[in-house]
Amino acid sequence: MKSEKTLQINDFGAGSKMFASNKKLVSEIAKSSLSSVSKCRILFNLVLNFKCKNILELGTSLGISSSYLASTGESNHVYTLEGDTTIAELAKSTHQSLGLKNIEVYTGKFIDTLPDILNTMERVDFVFLDGHHQEQATLDYLELVMQKCHEHSIIIVDDIYWSEGMSKALEKSKKT
Ligand SMILES: C[S@@+](CC[C@H](N)C(=O)[O-])C[C@H]1O[C@@H](n2cnc3c(N)ncnc32)[C@H](O)[C@@H]1O
Repeated sequence: MKSEKTLQINDFGAGSKMFASNKKLVSEIAKSSLSSVSKCRILFNLVLNFKCKNILELGTSLGISSSYLASTGESNHVYTLEGDTTIAELAKSTHQSLGLKNIEVYTGKFIDTLPDILNTMERVDFVFLDGHHQEQATLDYLELVMQKCHEHSIIIVDDIYWSEGMSKALEKSKKT
């Protein structure tokens, strides 16, 4: 929040309701795009209480929610995906500064990186889908991750009221 850095970033998602240009202050991203402390605590407690080991996050941004997820235990592993290389580098430095060694940040479009990452994962216990808030994209990512989920896996989809399409995606995914 205190950073005065400006980043030139790409929009990989459904566009932003906050930003008109691709030049963004880190402090603005921190204020508008990140999960709140209370949400991060819910994620943290879910992972801890349900003993989730293999954690997948779509949408790293500055690395805040992934830091909470990784803080659940050194033997847990967090795989987090981010499209923008500049943002991904900032996330890596956040993780480093917190001494978190159990997070891997994968850079690229979700649709390009996700299949390969899932291939390396035996199972997925916890998913936090927090990026690219479009109906069909959300359904496509859910279909992919569910191939590695089991009956106790937890899937969290953020921003379901962001658009009508997102609410539709949630309703459709409940039926699968
Ligand atoms: C809402 S932010 C994630 C916030 C983060 N989970 C937190 O709470 O700390 C979403 C991020 O997903 C990335 N993103 C959106 N759509 C993407 C896509 N299709 N492929 C790769 N990255 C994408 C954006 O660049 C953005 O940094």
